[in-house]
Amino acid sequence: MANNSNLGAAKAAKNDEFYTQYADIQKEVNAYLEYNPDTFRDKTVLLPCDDPEWSNFTRFFAQNFERLGLKRLISTSYAVESKKYKDYEPTLFETESPLFDIDKTCIKGKIFELTRDTNQNGRIDIDDLEWHYLEGDGDFRSPEVCALRDEADIIVTNPPFSLFREFVTWCIKSRKTMLIIGNINAITYKEVFPSIKENLLWLGATGFMTDMVFGVPKGADVDPKDKAKAAKLGYVGDFTRLGNSCWFTNIDHGRRHEPMMLMSMKENIRYGKHKDLKEEGYLHYFNYDAIDVPYVDSIPADYNGKMGVPITFLDKYCPDQFEIIDDGTEVPKTKEHISYKHKGIITYEINGKVVWSTPYTVSERKLGNSLRIERNGQPTNCPFGRIIIRKKQQQ
Ligand SMILES: C[S@@+](CC[C@H](N)C(=O)[O-])C[C@H]1O[C@@H](n2cnc3c(N)ncnc32)[C@H](O)[C@@H]1O
Repeated sequence: MANNSNLGAAKAAKNDEFYTQYADIQKEVNAYLEYNPDTFRDKTVLLPCDDPEWSNFTRFFAQNFERLGLKRLISTSYAVESKKYKDYEPTLFETESPLFDIDKTCIKGKIFELTRDTNQNGRIDIDDLEWHYLEGDGDFRSPEVCALRDEADIIVTNPPFSLFREFVTWCIKSRKTMLIIGNINAITYKEVFPSIKENLLWLGATGFMTDMVFGVPKGADVDPKDKAKAAKLGYVGDFTRLGNSCWFTNIDHGRRHEPMMLMSMKENIRYGKHKDLKEEGYLHYFNYDAIDVPYVDSIPADYNGKMGVPITFLDKYCPDQFEIIDDGTEVPKTKEHISYKHKGIITYEINGKVVWSTPYTVSERKLGNSLRIERNGQPTNCPFGRIIIRKKQQQ
């Protein structure tokens, strides 16, 4: 029988194998083009962590090479022997090529490039892709893929989930333009949040409440509910839907320049739809100089101080309207970190420093090693998952 660590490793391996759908890539890229039709013009686009023979990223950028005005498209794949999840059948594209080498094919990565009309049919498209084996296995951290990154202008991909932190650091350090898929929770990672705060990285154009569908390896275990949701969206078979995926980018798009339409504090309390706000008003944190705003649609238009808002705020974030002050999310999750409780307020400390305190009357429930905070009997992310923002002061 498989032990827990084997199961964990298998799950982690499968979590790296989610294949992005053409329509999701198209929708996202079109939003940048709408804002600036020259976003990709004369650029070299690198698609690392891909499987170019059947990747929709390669298909999309190759098919739209001329429309986007690309200078060069590079796509690299990771060798099957290096992957944690091994389920590989070479495609006809590879086996029918004179370059096919049975010894190399499992241990080497591949590079696909598109720069010119190789078949001289008058247009540059997917049929003009040229390929060869890489020296190494195509690991994005390898010197040869790092060199490709340094040559590129824009990095686009859905990187392996298990290496997301490393991958995003790899992109940010290179100071390149990037467009990558990740999990919404990555917003709070120490590798990500500082860039979001400094306005060097933001969420993409597709709202993160939008379900994204991903292909999965043949026969992979998928939660039947997610499978059914994918099928409802037209993807029947080896697909899943992930409700917590989003795009991270530093490419500008129109949605981030649309300010939210907000009511005043008084109007929210009087006319807003949230019962707790109507009853309690806006609460001030016990040990942090900010008010708590539990709902994005209740952010008051007329409050000039600091506000703790749910991280879903970032989906609506317009940097002309608000500034991000602080990462309010570094909250310990174990009971040892709870240092005191006073009048229903739990205060969290790490190394003696108050990190967060909640103004709510909450109850605690121990779940394994972690502590769940409940509000009115419902699990809540309340003391977790807040970022601190402030209305942009007029210059
Ligand atoms: C989430 S999948 C996405 C594949 C493709 N980019 C797409 O969106 O359809 C990530 C891919 O990266 C590969 N991978 C895992 N570790 C890698 C590494 N260190 N370097 C490059 N690729 C890696 C995985 O095997 C997997 O095929």
